[in-house]
Amino acid sequence: MSVFGGYSRYYDLLYRDKDYAGEAAYVHGLIERHRPGSVSILDLGCGTGRHDFCLTQLGHELTGVDLSHEMLAVAEREKAAFQGPRAAPTFVQGDVRSVRLGKSFGVVVSLFHVMSYQTQNQDLLQALVTIREHLKPGGLFIFDCWYGPAVLSDPPVVRVKRLEDANIQVTRLAEPVMHANDNLVDVNYQVFVRDKHSGAVEELRETHTTRYFFGPEIRHFCELAGLRLQEFQPFMADGAPGFGTWNVVFLGTRD
Ligand SMILES: C[S@@+](CC[C@H](N)C(=O)[O-])C[C@H]1O[C@@H](n2cnc3c(N)ncnc32)[C@H](O)[C@@H]1O
Repeated sequence: MSVFGGYSRYYDLLYRDKDYAGEAAYVHGLIERHRPGSVSILDLGCGTGRHDFCLTQLGHELTGVDLSHEMLAVAEREKAAFQGPRAAPTFVQGDVRSVRLGKSFGVVVSLFHVMSYQTQNQDLLQALVTIREHLKPGGLFIFDCWYGPAVLSDPPVVRVKRLEDANIQVTRLAEPVMHANDNLVDVNYQVFVRDKHSGAVEELRETHTTRYFFGPEIRHFCELAGLRLQEFQPFMADGAPGFGTWNVVFLGTRD
């Protein structure tokens, strides 16, 4: 099973408290500031589509792409119940490094560290070329990722997360292993899922290899891909990122 394979079954529960509506409003605000009136959005690495449903509610037309069949299956289930001002998002299975949809968009987004899953230089470059290939001239791209200065200043530690709903209790251990010379962190997840009715416990293990990036390298790879990096800033905050800013958003355009 792929990364986000087994994990997809508990993904929305694990991130139940994540403020997708607030994040979508923030992305909408960035679009209004940098490319006002733009409606069509491609979301690369859309996962279970939660930003996409929120952005649709804000008046955008969404296409989401993800590698994981399992994450997309959750998105399709949500889509069946979706009601909004525009047509529900379209979801497509594909790899952000190679997918070609044969159409272009006013905005391409990639949210919640999808770019950090592009761990090799070639992966990142290919993903950025995918962005360029799907942007209209003058179109805007927005993506966030782990920010190197903060990851090195405040390295990841072991974390435990416990959540439950009416049917299951989930306990997730996240054990990071840093590879300083590759700018990578292996986050080893061990997830215990207890069925509240039967008492049965299922164990699941996944390793998510995650890359942290620095501003100058993102600028360089954007240039190689034919994109212009305009600015980067703390995700959902103003000002310049620094040693305490783990999550940074990069914005730019296709000329
Ligand atoms: C942390 S999740 C974020 C999902 C979603 N954007 C969200 O905010 O909930 C990362 C997602 O990136 C997807 N992903 C990682 N590498 C990918 C690739 N090369 N092509 C397509 N999707 C990818 C994973 O399948 C997963 O759904």
